[in-house]
Amino acid sequence: MHDRRVVVLLVFFVTLGQCVLRKDRAYWEELGTNELDIALRTKYNLGVAKNVILFIGDGMGPNTITAARIHKGGESYKLSYETFPHVGLLKTYSADKMVPDSASTATALMGGIKANDKTLGVDASVPHRDCNASLRPEAKVESLAAHALRAGRSTGFVTTMRVTHATPAPMYAYSPERNWECDAATPAPCKDIARQLVEDWPGRDFNVILGGGRQSLIPNATSLENDPTSAWACSRQDGRNLIEQWQTDKGVRNLSYCFVENTNELKNAPANTDYLFGVFSNAHLPYEFQRHAESPSIVDMTEAAIKVLQRNEKGYFLMVEGGNIDMAHHRGRARTAIDETLAMEEAVRLAYNMTDPEDTLIVVTSDHMHSMTINGHPERGDNIFGTVGPSRYDGLNYTTIAYGTGGPGSRQFEAQMVNGTNEVVRRDPSQDDTTSFMYEQIAAITLEENKHGGGDVAVYASGPYAHLFHNIHEQHYTYYAISYAARLGRYADRPTENNAFSIQANIILSSVSMLLVALTVL
Ligand SMILES: *[C@@H]1O[C@H](CO)[C@@H](O)[C@H](O)[C@H]1NC(C)=O
Ligand SMILES: *[C@@H]1O[C@H](CO)[C@@H](O)[C@H](O)[C@H]1NC(C)=O
Ligand SMILES: *[C@@H]1O[C@H](CO)[C@@H](O)[C@H](O)[C@H]1NC(C)=O
Ligand SMILES: *[C@@H]1O[C@H](CO)[C@@H](O)[C@H](O)[C@H]1NC(C)=O
Ligand SMILES: *[C@@H]1O[C@H](CO)[C@@H](O)[C@H](O)[C@H]1NC(C)=O
Ligand SMILES: *[C@@H]1O[C@H](CO)[C@@H](O)[C@H](O)[C@H]1NC(C)=O
Ligand SMILES: [Zn+2]
Repeated sequence: MHDRRVVVLLVFFVTLGQCVLRKDRAYWEELGTNELDIALRTKYNLGVAKNVILFIGDGMGPNTITAARIHKGGESYKLSYETFPHVGLLKTYSADKMVPDSASTATALMGGIKANDKTLGVDASVPHRDCNASLRPEAKVESLAAHALRAGRSTGFVTTMRVTHATPAPMYAYSPERNWECDAATPAPCKDIARQLVEDWPGRDFNVILGGGRQSLIPNATSLENDPTSAWACSRQDGRNLIEQWQTDKGVRNLSYCFVENTNELKNAPANTDYLFGVFSNAHLPYEFQRHAESPSIVDMTEAAIKVLQRNEKGYFLMVEGGNIDMAHHRGRARTAIDETLAMEEAVRLAYNMTDPEDTLIVVTSDHMHSMTINGHPERGDNIFGTVGPSRYDGLNYTTIAYGTGGPGSRQFEAQMVNGTNEVVRRDPSQDDTTSFMYEQIAAITLEENKHGGGDVAVYASGPYAHLFHNIHEQHYTYYAISYAARLGRYADRPTENNAFSIQANIILSSVSMLLVALTVL
């Protein structure tokens, strides 16, 4: 009897806990009218974007953002960028693919054209792996980073991937194959992506380069316990040490530079640093949940980057990539992908707080989505990584999150003899910890890994001309909107609206004074 009372009490308190989720009429009215007030107060910022920060959550589709929001604060919580005043959608298809890769999409976002799958910094006249075609000067596309440098502004990037990987590479490299990251993979006469970063313009003038990828930059990078080399990514063989080359170049040019290899060195970079190069691992940076103290977080790197870039009074263009969102999704590990999404969300919060929305355009988007879905009818307030059900078909619960495609670990069906007939049986998810970082949610189709999704991605914007993101756009429109807002590239000489406004104001003022003069004379 005593035990039973405890259970009743427990049930009572659990139920009470759930009641914290308000659903009364006043609550919904308050939410709705607050949102309307914010919408009515939203003004267009027609100033010039002196600074631009472009966040790319790699593989961060709309469902990933929804799941991250629910996991962090519940269904009605708002992530840092979900409070931004303007939102649009981007169509992510590439020149040749309905479902794109990260190289072609980064070229669209920052180069203003749709390119072929797995090519970067070159237009669609360059077929995948066609070295000769990629060397034609007219095939190359100049990125927002190059435009920023031409305008006398600073530029650079932060990534949790190798610094030569698909998303940052089109800022500084022109390559018909994203995997030509170092000499070992690159056929002559093409130049590998790492050398283009360190030796060629615009890469050699980048003020900030922060990420992983030492194995493409120096010969024979040592594989350490905390820092393995990646067998399937490029490892430098030609004896060049591009990290030393970078430092020599800055020294010869008498620039104030700093090379760092761990969190402590990054945080203690001298305040007068104009050129900051940080390489924190042989391959990609570790996932946030496995990160050791020597490896900086995306928040640490974003903070260091903004400090360096802010030294230029003319402004800057910064790209920040949350690349491990994509890596985790490829492995079908939703919990890890959402954790990485929330790490980048913190970096956006920090960037917003370190800058002035009057002169800084912050754009948060993704290059492509993944096939992750939010299924069934879980209760409001349920754990997004939990289960729902049971299914009437097999009597088993199923995870709220599932994938369309996945690797062998997400194959949760197996053939079993049931009463003499061969049947396909689904694994009972209650046997596994579905909330773990390593758990692979079920996928409908088994491949070598989870593949990208082809749905639209969201784009959130705050700052000057953020309202240019206002409906469903082509992905490469982002390049034109940013160029216009920051008066870069083809819009470098476009007069600002403020000037246009003051010209109009002057005309009105002089007409008024002429009228006054006329009245006085009369
Ligand atoms: C690329 O160009 C070089 C030099 O013009 C030529 O020798 C080579 O055959 C070309 N390669 C291909 C695959 O067309
Ligand atoms: C790299 O390793 C290879 C094979 O172990 C060796 O032949 C070569 O000399 C090494 N290169 C450098 C620059 O250490
Ligand atoms: C190098 O830069 C420092 C600081 O900007 C300056 O004082 C010095 O004269 C420069 N040296 C040369 C050789 O240009
Ligand atoms: C800025 O920082 C404050 C205090 O840490 C925080 O409450 C706020 O949410 C941040 N702003 C954004 C847009 O994230
Ligand atoms: C199945 O999911 C329901 C919620 O939909 C939950 O109440 C129940 O405990 C779950 N069963 C198992 C075995 O996990
Ligand atoms: C197997 O067959 C027996 C007898 O027909 C039946 O009672 C039982 O429910 C069946 N088991 C399953 C798993 O279908
Ligand atoms: Zn990917």
